[in-house]
Amino acid sequence: MPGGPCIFSKGCPGRFGSVEAMITREPPLRSGEGPVGKQALRGGAPAIALRSASKRFGAVEAVREISLTIAPGEVVAFLGPNGAGKTSTIDMVLGLSEPTSGKVEVYGMAPRQAVGKGIVSAILQTGGLLKDLTVAETVAYISNLFTWTRPAQEVMDRAGIAGIANRLVGKCSGGEQQRLRFAMALLPDPELLILDEPTQGLDVEGRRNFWTAIRHDADLGRTIVFATHYLEEADAYADRVVLVRKGEIVADGTAAEVKALAAGRTVRATLADPDETAIGALPGVSSVERRGDSVIIHCAQSDRVARYLLNETPARDLEITSLGLEEAFLALTGDGPARSGSEPAAEGATPWSG
Ligand SMILES: Nc1ncnc2c1ncn2[C@@H]1O[C@H](COP(=O)(O)OP(=O)(O)OP(=O)(O)O)[C@@H](O)[C@H]1O
Ligand SMILES: [Mg+2]
Repeated sequence: MPGGPCIFSKGCPGRFGSVEAMITREPPLRSGEGPVGKQALRGGAPAIALRSASKRFGAVEAVREISLTIAPGEVVAFLGPNGAGKTSTIDMVLGLSEPTSGKVEVYGMAPRQAVGKGIVSAILQTGGLLKDLTVAETVAYISNLFTWTRPAQEVMDRAGIAGIANRLVGKCSGGEQQRLRFAMALLPDPELLILDEPTQGLDVEGRRNFWTAIRHDADLGRTIVFATHYLEEADAYADRVVLVRKGEIVADGTAAEVKALAAGRTVRATLADPDETAIGALPGVSSVERRGDSVIIHCAQSDRVARYLLNETPARDLEITSLGLEEAFLALTGDGPARSGSEPAAEGATPWSG
């Protein structure tokens, strides 16, 4: 960490706490604020570029040749089970560790440079807060470590903690403490915000309040990357889901695409006398089942099947469903062999990688 004290970290100087990644005494690099404006920042360089990045800890291959590009403004969920390599990847993006091989860039820069300029900040999986300070004192303290920040009141408003500004941190709930970390991460007005399992241990309401604040912020155009085990969070809050398993990306697309990749879709329609042979011959159809006056078709390419049914048969009451993200997640991250890039993808889906 360039020039920044490591005050809130349990694991200093290894894995930094919630705010260390953004503590810097260099001026932040923001639109109209720093030597390079937003246009230059967004003038082509991706927010994050991983090129065949690997991270090895002795015999453990935590990250295996991951290649990934995240564009400015994307909200991306990094979804995977325990030990998949999410934190190891995030640590490389934040410059907290170096890839064993391959390359990692943030807005076209080395990660440490981007962090040092306030372009990226993070809420990490580990890290403490000082319990005897109030919420407002904590924000002010961190603000003083920078040469420039957004106003403390503004970041507390954005994080939804202005109403508890005078509460001692030690008295705040887990969800409130996470929103305090979020407020601190907003101080340098980063282009890119990285959250490593930010709602772990929070109850449903705590999670909802946290994500309301984050999503509102994302709507203003900030790039957000979050790691999570919570499938419903990836589904509900991310524009794009990158599914990782054993250090590799096994799927990358919208939540709908990831679900379709894993499971395909089921098309159900009322059709008294279906031509099973003709339906079975459509591309991507894996089974055709008659149930009373309904036909149930399992397929990879539901649009094609729907078009056939509606245009060429008297089918009505068409329903298209896909498996839940949880089922897709299990199918993709289970212990079976990883699926390869040569397998057919669902319509419109990003092909498998990794
Ligand atoms: N410093 C380290 N030394 C040795 N092994 C490590 C180290 N950091 C991570 N690992 C190993 O690398 C693998 C990936 O760990 P990582 O923390 O990146 O997973 P994760 O996806 O973040 O998991 P979780 O969801 O539990 O946070 C694991 O097998 C872990 O034990
Ligand atoms: Mg982790």
